[in-house]
Amino acid sequence: MTETSLDGSPYIFGHDYRSSIRLNYQHMLIKKLCDEQLLSPNVHQSIASRSSIRIADIATGTALWLTELSDVFPAHAELHGFDISSNQYPPQEWLPKNVFLHEHDAFKPFAPEYLGSFDVVNLRFFITLLNKENIQPLLSNLITLLKPGGFLQWLDFDPRSAGAIAIDPNLPMPRTQSVVTMIRKAQPDVNLWILHDAEPFEAAGLDTTAYKSIHLRNYLRPVWNHCHIMGMKELARRLSRDTTGGSDKLSPLLQQIKELEAEFAQGASIDAQWFMMIGRMPGAPR
Ligand SMILES: C[S@@+](CC[C@H](N)C(=O)[O-])C[C@H]1O[C@@H](n2cnc3c(N)ncnc32)[C@H](O)[C@@H]1O
Repeated sequence: MTETSLDGSPYIFGHDYRSSIRLNYQHMLIKKLCDEQLLSPNVHQSIASRSSIRIADIATGTALWLTELSDVFPAHAELHGFDISSNQYPPQEWLPKNVFLHEHDAFKPFAPEYLGSFDVVNLRFFITLLNKENIQPLLSNLITLLKPGGFLQWLDFDPRSAGAIAIDPNLPMPRTQSVVTMIRKAQPDVNLWILHDAEPFEAAGLDTTAYKSIHLRNYLRPVWNHCHIMGMKELARRLSRDTTGGSDKLSPLLQQIKELEAEFAQGASIDAQWFMMIGRMPGAPR
């Protein structure tokens, strides 16, 4: 069964250790592409010297982004992660003392103690759950967490950038192309809700402070290809669980993944860009 939040699209991936490996691997890739910065340097600078700091990570997954922040902020900074499922959380005993993880659906109102209390709210890799109807309700809900002057940072894959490319332009790559088609079909209406740059944040009433495109580097293409293979394998496992009740029957998708691996090994890849949007809650910081 796919997990459905009342207001979000279903989350099509899993929550087992293989899903965690994929998220942590993806984390390493995007961190490299962001020059090892977890927060945009302007946001970091603006909050680093405050005497009280609270940061929230929405849909935190394995909480790796959040726990790494504990290395760059003083121990008095409170770091809160929220996710609809706690299955990928590390044991509480292994968390830094200032990291707190909660189970919470991002589309549902947050508890009163969190409202208006965060300097930064971070959202990363959530786009597969979004559409024209739920993007603004989600942003409105996340904004309730921000202090005046607080920042909303959203980093995600831009599905419009997906394209099949290869070292040799004559290489047949039907499987790579079908993954691209799948990515594009999953978000057919994205142009209706991200019209340009940080426009969804403007529509939500934030002062937009930055919009940046992040480009893949060629030497990281193998890592990005691995992310696709792991993602496809996760979908195949899910499909086989849903259709065969958990038997090990080889799904046709697994055969196609083998063919995808072969195309990738010959130099095919999926082109990609990510975006980072930053918005700021109106009002003076306190
Ligand atoms: C692709 S993962 C990204 C995890 C993490 N943000 C990262 O960058 O590694 C998406 C996460 O969204 C969570 N999720 C799905 N639906 C959610 C919802 N309605 N509210 C909160 N979290 C949700 C999933 O459990 C999963 O951990």
